[in-house]
Amino acid sequence: MGEFLIVYASRTGETTKIAELIAEGIRIGGHSAILKNATQIKNERDLNGFNGYLFGSSTYHGEMIPAMKQVLFIAERAELKDLPGGSFGAFGWSGEAPQRIFDTMKNIYNMKMTGSPLMLKASWLQGGVVMAQDYGKAMAKMIS
Ligand SMILES: Cc1cc2nc3c(=O)[nH]c(=O)nc-3n(C[C@H](O)[C@H](O)[C@H](O)COP(=O)(O)O)c2cc1C
Repeated sequence: MGEFLIVYASRTGETTKIAELIAEGIRIGGHSAILKNATQIKNERDLNGFNGYLFGSSTYHGEMIPAMKQVLFIAERAELKDLPGGSFGAFGWSGEAPQRIFDTMKNIYNMKMTGSPLMLKASWLQGGVVMAQDYGKAMAKMIS
């Protein structure tokens, strides 16, 4: 069984809910998932040692939450190369954060990324629960 680390940054809890649903999907897929708020990540040792990673942030004024930006700089020093990766976030209309996180994981850490970021207006809208769980299941399939 593999273990995924899901790190999220959220202001009003929407992205946190998405993170929890992705974790459910990973567990349904037969692996374990640990959830951490971005503020809990202090150095690369807090990131190292997992079999796959998901980073998520909502978007405010076209940007990710600063705590997630900080995690992305810390992650540059972690051992993430070739490991499965995904990104996610709640958004209102433009949703830049999940794509920027995804691109950083792919281009800077050289991770093995899943198809695309998961962007949801809210976990409870338009099939969001199933989409977030499915994203977790797809990540679980990346390690067998
Ligand atoms: C002041 C403010 C600025 C926002 N800016 C953006 C934005 O630039 N693009 C966007 O897609 N959503 C924007 N949103 C919407 C949030 O991303 C959305 O409410 C999201 O669900 C919040 O998720 P969270 O609870 O995980 O922080 C903004 C919301 C607020 C209150």
